[in-house]
Amino acid sequence: MNLFDVYPLNNIEITRASGSNVWDADGEQYLDLYGGHAVISIGHTHPHYVTRLTEQLNKVGFYSNSVKIPLQVELAEKLGQVSGKTDYQLFLCNSGAEANENALKLASFYNGRKKVIAFKGAFHGRTSLAVSATDNPKIIAPVNETDNIVFLPHNDEAALSAAFAEYGNEVTAVIIEGIQGVGGIREASVSFLQLIRSLCDQYNAVYIADSVQCGYGRTGKFYSHDYAGVDADVYTMAKGMGNGFPVAGISIAPKFKPWHGMLGTTFGGNHLACAAALAVLEIIEQDDLIANAEEVGTYLIEALKEMEEVKEVRGRGLMIGIELPESLSNVKKDLLFKHKIFTGEAKPNVIRLLPALNLTKNQADQFLNEFKIALKG
Ligand SMILES: Cc1ncc(COP(=O)(O)O)c(C=O)c1O
Repeated sequence: MNLFDVYPLNNIEITRASGSNVWDADGEQYLDLYGGHAVISIGHTHPHYVTRLTEQLNKVGFYSNSVKIPLQVELAEKLGQVSGKTDYQLFLCNSGAEANENALKLASFYNGRKKVIAFKGAFHGRTSLAVSATDNPKIIAPVNETDNIVFLPHNDEAALSAAFAEYGNEVTAVIIEGIQGVGGIREASVSFLQLIRSLCDQYNAVYIADSVQCGYGRTGKFYSHDYAGVDADVYTMAKGMGNGFPVAGISIAPKFKPWHGMLGTTFGGNHLACAAALAVLEIIEQDDLIANAEEVGTYLIEALKEMEEVKEVRGRGLMIGIELPESLSNVKKDLLFKHKIFTGEAKPNVIRLLPALNLTKNQADQFLNEFKIALKG
């Protein structure tokens, strides 16, 4: 049997990893500023994480949501505390797409409506509703095409107000990333998020904050949407939540009332997933990683802004987009193969930095030095 070949692969096999470093099969060391797509939040093979998962695996790895799982309660309490949303409710699932899918369903159950407002450049995942709300026709299969999703221009307050004035009573939800990731590290403005909040209040629509990539402390606040100073109704999260163990969740405002069977999943919230998620939150708290993300991120952003070859630097904390001119389109590959540094990318020519939240200033300097050399070709 062959693999179904959907991923363009780099010819590298990672055989060992620690903190923000990984090693390939030949023993070559790399600096990892990509974290397997913003997933590695507390660093690879963090000792506390490894111990907590190993101990849990030796007790019980999995049981379904047909029995009490006290680890889920512990996780909900910890997440409420670290995120500051103590009165919210937690539903656990397995991936970012599934989190958004459930958030959109929840909204529709809540107000009985069908229309979803999403934005140009958005990426919300690949399941049916999540992909329909994703601004990329290439990955929307005919069966996922729906008139229920409306795409509006990003950060366009007049367009949003006009849409609500026209059909606000049909809108079930507005879904938005705090900072668009796949879209090229583009921040939702504070006033735009505040307008979403007030229009959703006025029309009883649900404000869904997609925090799958920009959440979990990466930007210097637990949810990057928090920079706007208003609460969303539902926050979706995944990537950094389990440091690589597949776990995702939605944090749900108190006004939503659950009923048995409303949402569900076989794997979501299993013992191992909860142990992984708890280990991550414990390290984030204990090592003050949200503050570190802000500090090291700001340091990187300021240094990058000084580089004349760079067209634009966008983002917050350790979610950084470096836009390069077309003439420097080789830099990302050079960073990986010549300078041994993993980074992410966004089209057309944006380098994305999504490292672990405990990246050190020394590691940031290592990147800046190598990047300067790579820019010179
Ligand atoms: C903002 C955002 N939402 C949702 C998703 C989908 O997450 P997953 O790949 O875990 O389904 C992603 C993945 O890149 C994302 O960046």
